[in-house]
Amino acid sequence: MRTTVIIPAAGSGTRFGADIPKQFVALGGIPIIVRTLQVFEETGAVESVIIAASQDFHEYLRALQSQYGLKKIVALVEGGKERQNSIMNALQTSICEASDVILVHDAVRPFITPNFITSIAEAAWQHGAAIPGLVPKETIKECSNDGYVRATHERSRLRAIQTPQGFRREIITAAYQKAQNEGFLGTDDASVVEFAGFPVHILPGIEENIKITTPLDFEWCQWRIAEKAKGG
Ligand code: C5P
Repeated sequence: MRTTVIIPAAGSGTRFGADIPKQFVALGGIPIIVRTLQVFEETGAVESVIIAASQDFHEYLRALQSQYGLKKIVALVEGGKERQNSIMNALQTSICEASDVILVHDAVRPFITPNFITSIAEAAWQHGAAIPGLVPKETIKECSNDGYVRATHERSRLRAIQTPQGFRREIITAAYQKAQNEGFLGTDDASVVEFAGFPVHILPGIEENIKITTPLDFEWCQWRIAEKAKGG
């Protein structure tokens, strides 16, 4: 089973408030994206890595690749306006066309583990599409535009969805093609696959696998890195 991971890293990270996109900010001395890529270097489940990033950062990414000895990066592609466009650019490479399973993992989720990547890749092969999700801690309500509650959804039936998300190659490519043809824009890869009518299997996610979005997330990551260094 040939598995390729696409790392979308073309976001500007406006909610984060740093001068550079958050994926390049150093966490415990190492850029967040490098920490993420190091986990994919470690897992035996993935052969190749494709990064979608703004052209302005390609040279820097090449420098990080050699500095940290990242051997699995086989292509850097241009990022798109939306995350979905970034993924589409990566899907059009010959490496993806020759893969059996495609994973997609946000550059800004460095606490993923090698074993979990393997579980998602295997579940994707078995079910066609597999994604991790956590039961939300908060009660989730649907709101109206004028600031009133429209509905309260039963929490045990809801999931907060993470990455990596995994798909058989022919499923994700067909889904992205259909979304592009019909102008559908989803917020994650699974929503594109759902739009195309494929079933998506959900596995329990990992609480620590946070998407670094706000300065508070970053503070927590710094604490966690320090704990890990102490053996925690
Ligand atoms: O902005 P958000 O936190 O949802 O981004 C999730 C991931 O998608 C990040 O790794 C970000 O760099 C990436 N992204 C992208 N292309 C965009 C927007 C976001 O690759 N146009």
